[in-house]
This record gives sequence, structure tokens and C-alpha cells, in this order.
Amino acid sequence: MSQTNVAVITGASSGIGAAYAERLAAEGYDLLLVARRADRLQDLAGRLADTHGVSAETLVADLEDASDLAALAARLETDPVAVLINNAGAGALGPTAIKGADAQESLIRLNIVALTRLSIAALAGFRKTGIGTLVNIASVIAFAPSAAGATYSGSKAFVLNFTRSLQLEYEKTDIRIQAVLPGPIRTEFFTAQGLDDSVFPASAYIGPDALVEAALAGLASGEKVTVPTLVDAGIWDAIEKERARFLAEVVGGRVAERYTPVA
Ligand SMILES: NC(=O)c1ccc[n+]([C@@H]2O[C@H](COP(=O)([O-])OP(=O)(O)OC[C@H]3O[C@@H](n4cnc5c(N)ncnc54)[C@H](OP(=O)(O)O)[C@@H]3O)[C@@H](O)[C@H]2O)c1
Repeated sequence: MSQTNVAVITGASSGIGAAYAERLAAEGYDLLLVARRADRLQDLAGRLADTHGVSAETLVADLEDASDLAALAARLETDPVAVLINNAGAGALGPTAIKGADAQESLIRLNIVALTRLSIAALAGFRKTGIGTLVNIASVIAFAPSAAGATYSGSKAFVLNFTRSLQLEYEKTDIRIQAVLPGPIRTEFFTAQGLDDSVFPASAYIGPDALVEAALAGLASGEKVTVPTLVDAGIWDAIEKERARFLAEVVGGRVAERYTPVA
């Protein structure tokens, strides 16, 4: 089977997804742009096709919807693509007691269920061609339990561990798998949830183009987890070292002294 040149980007109608579309079109990829807002997708697809001479198809899909999700997953598995950017995501930010359980379930369907199904489908396609690139957009909040983002934080911790586990599963192949952990990015993410950007001070934000440029540089260098705003890379090395020490320690077959009853 011949290798395609198609990059699929979910959540391409704004923010980080639109920035990936722009960059990948500039690199010559044909695009399949996925989101719910048809007008936004069509405007972007038309502009990128004109500017970069690539083909840009749009797919209007609600990835929380099981049949829309199944249709895209089936397509990825049947017609292997070159790249999948699993970017569509939502926050449902606010206390769970106020937002309610339905909002948490919707978030899980998009941030976890859709990302998982699309990853597995794309990887099935990649196995047919022997090559492909999967990029899963997590967040630095994967490391930050959050009173106003319990499910969001949990979902991004899932994305990080899921993606790192897939990297282990596929480490002996030519399939590239990257987790990207953005910090605060100036997009519609907060306003789409009825919040404003003042969640963080203005100085905390970078733009989506800078994020994507850094993420693609990380991918090109073979990085597996890319945290574009982590200026001191030594912090990541220290986390990884302590993680390895933790894992070696917890399989020691003994209970810590602090939990043993005092005689
Ligand atoms: N902005 C940040 O500070 C930040 C930080 C860390 C991680 N992230 C992550 O980055 C990713 C992109 O977010 P963004 O900042 O670019 O926000 P955004 O501008 O709000 O973009 C979100 C994208 O997801 C799409 N989407 C939302 N619900 C969908 C659904 N049910 N089905 C299909 N598409 C859906 C939206 O398109 P439609 O509304 O047209 O469907 C939109 O294209 C998310 O996974 C987010 O968690 C963002």
C-alpha cells in the first residue's frame, strides 16, 4: 500500500488545531480538517488550499457523538493517513458541584473516548503502511490537580499516560507518537466555556503559532513528550529520574515503616 500525504487534524476550526493546519499545509501535507463549525472549516480549507497548493477536505463531525466518531475512526483505519493530530478538546472548567456530571461526561467523551478511538484507528492504519505520526494534545494540567478542573485535569493526565504507553507499545516500529503539553495558549478555549483569558495573567500566554512551531520542532528532534514552555529542560529530566526511582521503589515487596502499627 502506498503512503499517503494526508494530515488529519481534529479541532481544526480554531486555535491550536488551525495553527497545525497552517503549518502542515506549508509543509505540503494534504489536509482533512475536522470540527463541528462547517463555515470555519471551509474558510480555512479554502485559504490553505489557495495559499499552499494542497488539497484540503473538511469533515463536519461532533466527536462526542458515537456515530460521527465511529465514521472517522473507520476511515482512518481503512484509508491510512500520514499524520493524525488529536487536538479537539474541551475544558468544562468550574467546580464539578456546579458544572454537574453531564458536563464531565461530555468532556470525557471528547477528551478521552474520542482521542482513544481515533488513536487506535490511526495506528491500525499506520500498521498497514508501516509508518505514520500520531500527535496527542495533552496539557501541563496533567501535572496539576485542579479545584476548577477536576475532569479536565484528569482527562489530560489520561492523554499523557495513554500516549506514553502507546509509545512503549510501538517503540520497535517506524511509527512516531508524540504527546504535546501546552501551557496557557491564547485561543478560544476559555471564551468557548464562558470564561475569559484572565484565568491566567496576560504574561502567562503564548500564541498558538508559537506552540505549534515548538511542538513540531520537538517532533522533528524525536522528542516523545514536548512541553514548549518548559524553559529549563533539566526540570523534565529530574521528574523522569524521580519517576524511575518511584517505580523501582514501589515494587520492593514491602510496606513502608510509617504504615506499620506502633507496638
Ligand atoms: N488554550 C489553552 O490554554 C490550552 C492549554 C493546554 C491544552 N490545550 C488543549 O489544546 C486543544 C485545542 O484547544 P484550543 O486551545 O485550540 O481551544 P479552541 O480554540 O477552543 O479549539 C478547540 C477545538 O476543538 C473543537 N471541538 C470542540 N468540541 C468538539 C466536538 N465535540 N467535536 C469536534 N470538535 C470539537 C472546536 O471546534 P468546533 O467548536 O467547531 O467543533 C475547536 O476547533 C484542546 O485539547 C485543549 O485541551 C489548550
